[in-house]
Formats: sequence, C-alpha cells, structure tokens
Amino acid sequence: MKLPLILVNFKLYERATGDAAVELARVHQKVADEVGVSLGIAVNALDLAAVCKEVSIPVFSQHIDPVSYGNHTGHILPELVKEMGAYGTLLNHAECQLSDDVLAKTIQKAREVGLFTVVCANTVSKASEILIFNPDLIAVEPPELIGGDISVSKAEPKIIEEAVKNIGENRVLVGAGVKNSEDVKIAISLGACGVLLASGVTKADDPYAVLMDLVSGL
Ligand code: G3P
Repeated sequence: MKLPLILVNFKLYERATGDAAVELARVHQKVADEVGVSLGIAVNALDLAAVCKEVSIPVFSQHIDPVSYGNHTGHILPELVKEMGAYGTLLNHAECQLSDDVLAKTIQKAREVGLFTVVCANTVSKASEILIFNPDLIAVEPPELIGGDISVSKAEPKIIEEAVKNIGENRVLVGAGVKNSEDVKIAISLGACGVLLASGVTKADDPYAVLMDLVSGL
C-alpha cells in the first residue's frame, strides 16, 4: 500500500453498514481508480466479506481479537479476516480501546497472519508508548475532536508536528474532524503520511464529491 493514505473508517454509521457499506466502498474504489491515490476503508467485521468481494482498494477490519481457531465464541478471528481478503486492521480506536497487554498480543497476531496494522492513540505520548509494539502505522486522534466540525489540522497542528517528531515520518496518520482538502493538505505539510476520518464521508450526502475534494489535498 503506498503512502500517503486516506483511510475512511465506516464505524457503524447507517450509511456505511450492510448494503450501504458495499455501495460506499464502490464509491471509494471509483475515486481511487480515477485519481490513482491510496484510499483505504475500515469496515465492521460483519461487512468484510461482502466489501472485500466488491473492491480492490485496501480494506481494514475495524478490530480483530488476539485469538486463533477454536473455542472463542463471539470473537473476530484474524485468520478469517485475512481469508476474506482484508488488507489490514485498525486497532485501539478511541471507541474500541484495548489494554496494552491485549494490544501487544493483537498486533503480534495480526503480523502472524499478514494483516497490516493501523493503531490509534488518543495522545502523542500514548502513540510513543505504542511504538514499542511495532505497528505499521499509528493514527493520532484527539478524542475531543472526533465527530466534530473542527479538524485536528486546524485546531491542533502542534499535535501533528509533535507526533511526526516523536514517531517518525511515514508512520503517522492523524485524524478527528477531518473534512476537506485543506485539512488533508495541512496534515501532509506537517509531515503526516495521511489522515483517518469518518463522519466527513459517512454522513455526506455526496460522498463521491467529498472524497474527490479530500484526495485533491494529497
Ligand atoms: O476513525 C476516525 C475517527 O475517529 C474520526 O472521526 O468523524 O471525526 O472523522 P471523524
């Protein structure tokens, strides 16, 4: 997967689950094909199979559990996520946080089955702690800006600079409140290798137009 990356987290938005997830995934594929940029999507585990069959852009599972085949009722099996065609997994999102112990095991498990890891951190210091687990990318998202109208790029550019300084280039995504090309441009100009966003796309009336605008910021 080439960088920079725009990763759209479908969360459990109504317009981004079930049949709508497949439809929204197709829109992302269209934009990626037309513009030739790296555009990924993180979908809920129940939609993974249908979405992966439909698109060739990188698809991430919103979570996996550090389990293997066997007696683990209700868990998300990494082997199966890989078999369904997922490229990677998002882990430790502010809305699905893990203890350090579980996170370390889950990253290790993802690596064993060949899933790319994007691990979220609420703060730069948490991101620095997570580095020891060696995830592929770290996404820093100030939780108070998630789902809001003001982006991390505009409200907290220092967080982006600090994250890049502490974690290194080609390793940091930033997110929270990202809505448009200007937000993307600022993040990239400060050294981030992409953005993670959700509501700007999943709640948009015209996701194609929003995505075209976002990718123009790369
Ligand atoms: O995972 C992305 C996310 O938490 C940011 O959400 O709605 O602020 O773009 P949003």
